[in-house]
Amino acid sequence: MKEFIIIGHKAVTAPFSLNDLPGAAGRMDILCRCVNASLFLSHDLRRDVRVYLVLKGGAHPMLIRFDGAAVRYLSPDERSAASLIKKALEKQAQGFWTESMPGVSIKKGDLGDLLDELDRKITYLREDGPDIRVKPLDAGPDLLFVLGDHLGLTDDEEKIIADHEHMIVSVGPLSLHADHCIVLLHNEMDRVEKCI
Ligand SMILES: C[S@@+](CC[C@H](N)C(=O)[O-])C[C@H]1O[C@@H](n2cnc3c(N)ncnc32)[C@H](O)[C@@H]1O
Repeated sequence: MKEFIIIGHKAVTAPFSLNDLPGAAGRMDILCRCVNASLFLSHDLRRDVRVYLVLKGGAHPMLIRFDGAAVRYLSPDERSAASLIKKALEKQAQGFWTESMPGVSIKKGDLGDLLDELDRKITYLREDGPDIRVKPLDAGPDLLFVLGDHLGLTDDEEKIIADHEHMIVSVGPLSLHADHCIVLLHNEMDRVEKCI
């Protein structure tokens, strides 16, 4: 299972209009593109992938989970992912995962809660980390990646990561959009898994 966590610092935690994802919804467009980059192949889905969104733009942070093995009604455009996030936010979130649509669930919580729950080594994507072509990703199918949005990660979030087993990596010398990093990560892993 490959898992991606993306932190949305401004992303709202109440239902939002699909007509203004970058503005009123708090850069929800970034998170939607990350969902698509994580899950979509051409005419298929990556069923061994889960995506977690940390929405931090409200009074209380919320976690949304997309499970590639179970998700339905998702097409590869931002509005489609946004509409599933919106439906999840319409649910009464609890301290445990509640499914809002097939393969999409919501839970109250923040980054630390999620990392405690997943309880495994983190691969933290940061521009100044060692390049994955110099320091390759860990072997094996079970990797957990953490990426920031347009704001990167805060010092507090980096401290939470530092409290867990982790490694820091970069996917190249330039600062990229988070969804583009996810595509590059998939490509590295695909080459190892499918080509060798
Ligand atoms: C648009 S970048 C963040 C922008 C920048 N850190 C800032 O402070 O404004 C979004 C996220 O993508 C990841 N990222 C971007 N470029 C990267 C690179 N070359 N290597 C590894 N991760 C990268 C990081 O997780 C980053 O937080």
